[in-house]
Amino acid sequence: MTIDRSIKIAPSILSADFANFGQEIQCVEAQGADWIHVDVMDGHFVPNLTFGPPLCAAIRPHIHTVMDVHLMISPVDRFVDAFAEAGADILTAHLEAGPHVHRTLQAIRGAGCKAGLALNPGTGLCNVEHLLDMVDLICVMTVNPGFGGQKFIHSQISKVRELRSLIGDRPIHIEIDGGITADTAPLMAEAGADVLVAGSGVFKGGSVTDPAPYGTNIRTIREAAEAARTAA
Ligand code: DX5
Ligand code: ZN
Repeated sequence: MTIDRSIKIAPSILSADFANFGQEIQCVEAQGADWIHVDVMDGHFVPNLTFGPPLCAAIRPHIHTVMDVHLMISPVDRFVDAFAEAGADILTAHLEAGPHVHRTLQAIRGAGCKAGLALNPGTGLCNVEHLLDMVDLICVMTVNPGFGGQKFIHSQISKVRELRSLIGDRPIHIEIDGGITADTAPLMAEAGADVLVAGSGVFKGGSVTDPAPYGTNIRTIREAAEAARTAA
């Protein structure tokens, strides 16, 4: 099986107007977003709180691309079915969220979603190898999870390069999350990433009444990433 390894830009609605998610999603999709990234935080696994399954269900009808749900919660398993029922296409759980990530990934696929595995910046790849046949996506965090607008952690570039080679021909997306701009996207595209999550990098400068900057931001990040790949 092969997958689409072209560069995909996934705006994180963590940087959108929280009073207006439906329109914000329509605007970024109209401006070229490939996926919509939804950051779920529990105030326990990460030091911030965002939203749960009802919000995901409410925004689902507005998403015409891919609903990519990033679960920064612990425990995870008891919520998998609720997020699947809310319409997630991809459910990503953290390797660090509990002792039974293998079971969590089984539950995600069992619920009919694609399974993602996220790694904090301090987590190495040694525990990933035995999970490779259970995942559709691996998300390398390039900030410590919990907040938008943080600074990109450069030490993750070599991790992505190593992960790309570990994955080989397997149909697994490499997603990068945190601090993505037109300056950092090329570093990750060149190292092997294909999905670039960007919150502040996409939503800066625009609004639902003036969405053109979203399009400019998406295009600028995409073009920088694609150019780095072509040069590689
Ligand atoms: C961080 C979240 C990210 C975040 C990215 O915990 O997982 O998705 O929203 O935001 P930026 O692109 O602003 O770093
Ligand atoms: Zn995220």
